[in-house]
Amino acid sequence: MEVLLDSGGNYSVAGYNERAANSFGRIYLGLDEGPEYDRQATRVNAAIQSISAPEAFAVALRAARNVLAGNSASDDPTVVFRTLAAICRLWFDLPDSVNMVEGPPRIGPDPAPPALCPGDFIFPSGHIFSPVPDSLQETSGPPQGRLIRAAVTRYLAGLRASGRLPSGVLSRAVFDAFPSGEDDLIARTIVGVMIGMLPTVALNLVLTLAAWRAEGRFAELQKVLQQHAGGDPFARASEVLREPLIETMQAKGDLPVPHAVWRTAVKDHMLGTEQVRKGDRIHVDIASATRADRQAGIADPFPIFGGDRQTTPHPTHACPGYRAAIGVMLGVLNGVMEPR
Ligand code: HEM
Repeated sequence: MEVLLDSGGNYSVAGYNERAANSFGRIYLGLDEGPEYDRQATRVNAAIQSISAPEAFAVALRAARNVLAGNSASDDPTVVFRTLAAICRLWFDLPDSVNMVEGPPRIGPDPAPPALCPGDFIFPSGHIFSPVPDSLQETSGPPQGRLIRAAVTRYLAGLRASGRLPSGVLSRAVFDAFPSGEDDLIARTIVGVMIGMLPTVALNLVLTLAAWRAEGRFAELQKVLQQHAGGDPFARASEVLREPLIETMQAKGDLPVPHAVWRTAVKDHMLGTEQVRKGDRIHVDIASATRADRQAGIADPFPIFGGDRQTTPHPTHACPGYRAAIGVMLGVLNGVMEPR
């Protein structure tokens, strides 16, 4: 948190945009605090933060049940992917079935259009967030990033040509945040918000479900949920599933996603007992921090989200999607446990 809070002005996120430039393009996650960051981020983050957990829960529960009603086996990871695509249609008007279609992750340096949602968001995100991207992230990330950017650019051009406005609450918020001369920025920002949401929610859910199934915990929690009849559906799911979800994300297998984020030192300074030099890359190992929390019995979800925007001060880039993410994850888990 010392690195993320950065009260001494020791760190920069500019490295994210250096990588993003050759991929989905520069976004506000890769801008350091200042007037340009505020111009690009404030209204969009406020729109993301305005989505409440109960609202996201209701949307996700309905979407998961619709997907499952179409005969998908409930232990199939594509249930998570298809549910997220359905939520994106509501919040972003994408996938629009023309420039972007529903689809799972794929690998390879030359992805054929149309872009896949959520599939083509996974490697571009990993390529930006990983302190040291692996070879799959290196080869698949940038070309898929260029493909999703081109898809959103074409979607936006189609809107302009027909004089339509986006109906999805998040794409509309981005659309309204900038003048029409800045369509390139609008497209990159829509991609940026989807990049914030899709790989994180998808992979945390898929890995949590896999861990619960492997341990027999899925059936246990399903039973507790069923015994917990009545009341407000969001409150009920929260009571039964929230703690186990946070606990699992803190400490199981490859969770949480992202495992780590990173910064570049902009001046020589001490970090704890370490001498840091200007230009050093600082790996913020979220997974080891959350494991230490777990061992100490601390159930704090915020390190997973890069900080808590409700506290003052908070890290500039702390996740604005915390409530939406918790709501979506609880809704999907509840839907998979109770398909109807
Ligand atoms: C389990 C789900 C999620 C996790 C674990 C997560 C994690 C994170 C983390 C760690 C950061 C900070 C990165 C850094 O400081 O280097 C972040 C930022 C961000 N997240 Fe999330 N996120 C999740 C869901 C979402 C959702 C649902 C949305 C949007 C609907 C979203 C949008 C964003 C955006 C736009 C930023 C950049 C904020 C800024 O730079 O001002 N995230 N997220």
